[in-house]
Amino acid sequence: MKLLIVGSGPSGLLLALMLAKKGVDVTLVEKSTELDKQPRATHYAAPAIYELARAGVLDEMYEGGFVPNGVSWRKLDGTRLTGLVAKGVIPDDYPYRMVCYPLDRLGPLLLKHVQKLPNVQILWSHDVTSIGQDADSAWVEAETPGGTKHITADYLVGCDGANSIVRRRLFEDFEFPGFTWDEQIVATNTYYDFDQFGWTDANFIVHPEHYFMAARISPHQGKEAMWRVTYGELPGLTREQMIERQPDKFKTFLPGHPEPDQYKIVNFSPYKIHQRCAKSLRVGRILLAADAAHLCNPFGGLGLTGGIADIGGLYDCLLGIHQGLADDSILDQYDRVRREIYDKVINPMSSENFTRLNRQDPEKAMENDPFFQLCLKGESDKEFSKNMQLAVKDLLQHDFTQYYKKDVAGATAIPS
Ligand SMILES: Cc1cc2nc3c(=O)[nH]c(=O)nc-3n(C[C@H](O)[C@H](O)[C@H](O)COP(=O)(O)OP(=O)(O)OC[C@H]3O[C@@H](n4cnc5c(N)ncnc54)[C@H](O)[C@@H]3O)c2cc1C
Ligand SMILES: *[C@@H]1O[C@H](CO)[C@@H](O)[C@H](O)[C@H]1NC(C)=O
Repeated sequence: MKLLIVGSGPSGLLLALMLAKKGVDVTLVEKSTELDKQPRATHYAAPAIYELARAGVLDEMYEGGFVPNGVSWRKLDGTRLTGLVAKGVIPDDYPYRMVCYPLDRLGPLLLKHVQKLPNVQILWSHDVTSIGQDADSAWVEAETPGGTKHITADYLVGCDGANSIVRRRLFEDFEFPGFTWDEQIVATNTYYDFDQFGWTDANFIVHPEHYFMAARISPHQGKEAMWRVTYGELPGLTREQMIERQPDKFKTFLPGHPEPDQYKIVNFSPYKIHQRCAKSLRVGRILLAADAAHLCNPFGGLGLTGGIADIGGLYDCLLGIHQGLADDSILDQYDRVRREIYDKVINPMSSENFTRLNRQDPEKAMENDPFFQLCLKGESDKEFSKNMQLAVKDLLQHDFTQYYKKDVAGATAIPS
């Protein structure tokens, strides 16, 4: 099989790696000259861990990254409301423990593995402008420094992110059902000593205006540790206005109310946030995955985790076709199931993760929020807390090998 993937973000690289290891010829087409360096994903939950293990990169992630000790929800004054303790509750030998490994390291790690495979070709500086297909093949046209190029394969997968050209060419240009939140957010990478306040590795602050997340993103402690501080901003502000407001925001909401000389921001990136899913993830020989297929706000950490779960599913589907264990109707199952998981889990759960922070009264949250009550129960009942934390794995995953043809010898073997 010849596969064409648009986008060398984490999802495109992962799909290339998994399928190329099984002998599929992969061409990755990327408009940029290098990997994206914006501060985005940092934490991956169990469903993603499962796929990263199958891709053979997980050990290096545990070695270079770290397993967070838990998460706390707090009030603006820093008081802890409740939380989920991971350390001592999730067994050390649980194979799908969450890992923190920021995207600016995951991309290069995946690229390193992909570059070892002779059957993957990466075409940098190839900006895809149009797509097409007939009964036997799918193709793209890309603008390159050497002129327009036409590249053809058996299947085409759009892993080209939130503004996916593949999605926009399949459907009406701006049709991407769902909505954009009024709130804007700013994601920063910041050196600040949260450890002096005894904060957990991940913290969410519940407040209608000054809601934010602070999560350790480097395996260091104290002043050496880098944290992701992501906070809410008013709608309509320009980037310049947000930069101007930042010192007051930090002074208001960070523990210890620091002046700018007490922390160091090394990255500052405003984002608009969305809940959207494409009409279909399959049109003939063309497929969509990860951010190209669906978006959610980042406060549940479900964006790339959900995207990687897509990739694992698509891997099983395309491998089934490649090995003659499935016909291409399996791709309709991919479309159906992955959209259903977005609708039933990713969209409602990530929306709740967000509104939990800024649409409720922090003083009444412990009484009113059913999720906080479950956390509270878990604080005195380890087994309950453990089961609660492990439940997420099965919610986002689906085993597509169950649609392999039943009459082919070996068809029930699960590819590893
Ligand atoms: C602040 C923030 C924090 C986040 N935190 C988390 C987290 O903790 N956990 C989590 O799971 N998720 C998180 N996410 C979400 C996560 O970052 C995204 O889901 C993920 O980066 C999407 O990966 P992707 O490969 O689908 O797309 P991208 O990373 O966007 O990659 C798309 C690639 O396609 C290329 N491309 C685009 N157009 C074209 C074209 N026309 N031709 C050729 N190439 C093209 C781009 O250059 C890019 O390289 C976060 C997001 C944000 C904004
Ligand atoms: C998101 O909410 C779900 C429950 O709806 C919970 O299990 C999960 O821990 C939350 N995650 C975050 C990061 O808020």
